[in-house]
Amino acid sequence: MKKTRLAVFVSGSGTNLQAIIDAGIPTVEIVLVLSNNPGAYALERAKKHGIPAVAADHKNFPGREEYEKHVLGLLEPYNVDLIALAGFMRILSPHFVKAYKNRIVNIHPALLPSFPGMHAARQALESGVKFTGCTVHFVDEGVDSGPIILQAVVPVRDDDDEESLLERIHKEEHRIYPEALKFIASGKFRIEGKRVLAAS
Ligand code: GRF
Repeated sequence: MKKTRLAVFVSGSGTNLQAIIDAGIPTVEIVLVLSNNPGAYALERAKKHGIPAVAADHKNFPGREEYEKHVLGLLEPYNVDLIALAGFMRILSPHFVKAYKNRIVNIHPALLPSFPGMHAARQALESGVKFTGCTVHFVDEGVDSGPIILQAVVPVRDDDDEESLLERIHKEEHRIYPEALKFIASGKFRIEGKRVLAAS
């Protein structure tokens, strides 16, 4: 069976990348790790595992269009089936999203559609919710608004601060991201509007 050729886009530490590597999903091959931040520790993680790792620094380009053109060019020789955003701190334009329609996924540290955007754990604390969590979703033209693939719930404790809550959310992220990628690689699903449904 052909493996799904996965590119992982990162900007920072890359603990989700590590979780995906460690999961060793038999149907998924990580063919490229790309970071917009040349100093991202995630690049080191990739190299340690012999995975091609490239820095594509957005600061070297005059605008989003030129930057994304460069990234699309970098991807081309790798024949990428799927892109997983794992802490990638750049918004992708509708043009890029269209080029990989329903083939880009993201992990977000909240139960979407609650708390999209930045500082999701802080938003959860400030809103007073008793449960938050994390979400793996397809990327569409909006911000954290695409069809939801998998979610995990994390209770908010009375003594939580942003850091403690995020730490527990991360543990769940590391569990569900590989699971979601395995599910997508199986191809046994369909997307109906906003819903991702398991194919029978
Ligand atoms: C995660 O919290 C993820 O939800 C968010 O960015 C963070 C990435 O962390 N999109 P890491 O680089 O995988 O450690």
